[in-house]
Amino acid sequence: MCGIACVAGDSNSAKYCYEALSQLEYRGYDSAGIAGIIEREIEIFKKEGRVKNIQSFADEFKAELVISHTRWATHGKPSDINSHPHLSNDKKIAIVHNGIIENYKDIKKHCQSQGVVFASDTDSECISQLISIEQGNILEKVKAATSMLKGSYALGILSLEDNAIVACAKESPLYIAKTTNGNMVASDVICFNGIASEYYAVKQNEYVLITKDEIIVYTKDFEKKKVQYLSLDSLNINVDLAGNKYYMLKEIKEIPKVINKIASTTEQINSKVLKLFEGKKTIKIIGCGTAYHASMYGAKVLQDALRVPCDACVASEFIYANNIIDSKTLCIFVSQSGETADTLSAQKLCKQSGAKTLAITNVEYSALAKVCDEYLSVYAGREIAVASTKAYIAQILIFYLLAKKLKGESFDLKPLEKSAKQMIKIDEELVNYVTKENKIFYLGRQLDYVSALEAALKLKEITYKGAEGYAAGELKHGTIALIEDNTLVIVFATDEAIIDKTLSGLQEVKARGAKIVLVSYKKYKTKDADYFIEVPKLDKELSCILSILPLQLLAFKVCIKLNLNPDKPRNLAKSVTVE
Ligand code: F6R
Repeated sequence: MCGIACVAGDSNSAKYCYEALSQLEYRGYDSAGIAGIIEREIEIFKKEGRVKNIQSFADEFKAELVISHTRWATHGKPSDINSHPHLSNDKKIAIVHNGIIENYKDIKKHCQSQGVVFASDTDSECISQLISIEQGNILEKVKAATSMLKGSYALGILSLEDNAIVACAKESPLYIAKTTNGNMVASDVICFNGIASEYYAVKQNEYVLITKDEIIVYTKDFEKKKVQYLSLDSLNINVDLAGNKYYMLKEIKEIPKVINKIASTTEQINSKVLKLFEGKKTIKIIGCGTAYHASMYGAKVLQDALRVPCDACVASEFIYANNIIDSKTLCIFVSQSGETADTLSAQKLCKQSGAKTLAITNVEYSALAKVCDEYLSVYAGREIAVASTKAYIAQILIFYLLAKKLKGESFDLKPLEKSAKQMIKIDEELVNYVTKENKIFYLGRQLDYVSALEAALKLKEITYKGAEGYAAGELKHGTIALIEDNTLVIVFATDEAIIDKTLSGLQEVKARGAKIVLVSYKKYKTKDADYFIEVPKLDKELSCILSILPLQLLAFKVCIKLNLNPDKPRNLAKSVTVE
């Protein structure tokens, strides 16, 4: 969370930073700010709210060295004062920070003991204050200060005395590039799209000095380091809206194309990947949010395929669960961004315990892809909307293919691609009904339960409605008390082996006055359902993929009816880089 962008260029650097921040807004949009050197002083403008609030300032601000930030609040509420950049008391150092400083209270006390007065409630401010009271040149000061920090950081540091920007990072992504807009530092290579051909990912213990003329990477002993820049060409970082008003709709519409791409790249599940599964006694599949739901799907299909215990685990819980992990465990990590801090911490733990690790991610240059033994791309293409749609489908499809390959079975994804095109539609009457409701239940068993959880998450995160995914058989053990006349219950029923039981659950809520949406095959259409969403009949593992598509669209359309922004829901960020 939080995005930083810094430019050392011509007098339009603030404008370039603003353009970069607009690309980084997916990382948080609680506030935005900009700082630059004007007439031998650091000048700062920062505002609570969206990046657009600083646009007119950025347009007029004629500094050549500029640092900037878009915030997802952790310490200190969203406000002007808690926005970045943070300025040191002596007004010589300004910083922008992505990450969390866990020992900020100790650092604050240390600075206060030397007379420093703090302006904000943030953890980040302690960094600018600490750097300013350290001794030496700017690199020495930054090294001394960062060596005291516990936690994670990607930093852009503006030094008045050195007329330079310094950047460094630990456990938070940070990239540098020589661009047509000047020398740049940013939290995501997306900011270099169309203005650079190469990038470099800053590593821990490196210090980068950025001026108008050059970018120099130093080792921790301040020796100049020759680094290998990588080509941006192969990275799919184009973020065109393709004529759509919102990324979420564009990304849902792209799902058939993503299925096609995955079908044409199955060779990535090669013998090296399949070997990871050999002799394993347990498989743990770990992720957060939507990626956790994909992990649930993965655990079910892999357990069926291998008859080896497979567990889906929430990454933030996994770390503290005292799990039994050893060299006979395979740990699979699912993450769209590949930068989720909880997931990365879980990976570290598994690696230390001797397990082999496999990443399933959408970002091939991400931290997760780098640290795991093997890596599978989900080939979804850049996903910008905060609510994950196409990446979720791609993740579960990768599990489907893994299971098929492990069983040595053939597969054909053409029918899935064809049916997916037909499934991206939703009854407008149902959209209107949901728009008026505040409490919606989603039920299913087994893979349909995974769909129920994911469909409910989509609705709640972008419409703020109370939506609950429930195991169809579990509702009667308490939660059924919430069902009253006209409560909307959406029932997923695509597993024919257990469909009778699922439909009994439908009857139980119907008997209590619920309005029913049934998501199932044509032959199960019933008058008991007020709305029916027909799912084409494929393998049950594929039909359940299809069943989620209209519900993703439903969440989107309800969001639009409510005049909300589906791409930037409140309180959320696309990339959660803090634990
Ligand atoms: C929901 C959503 C989140 C993410 C979660 C993990 O639509 O997108 O729940 O799935 O924050 O993010 P990644 O997949 O980047 O690790």
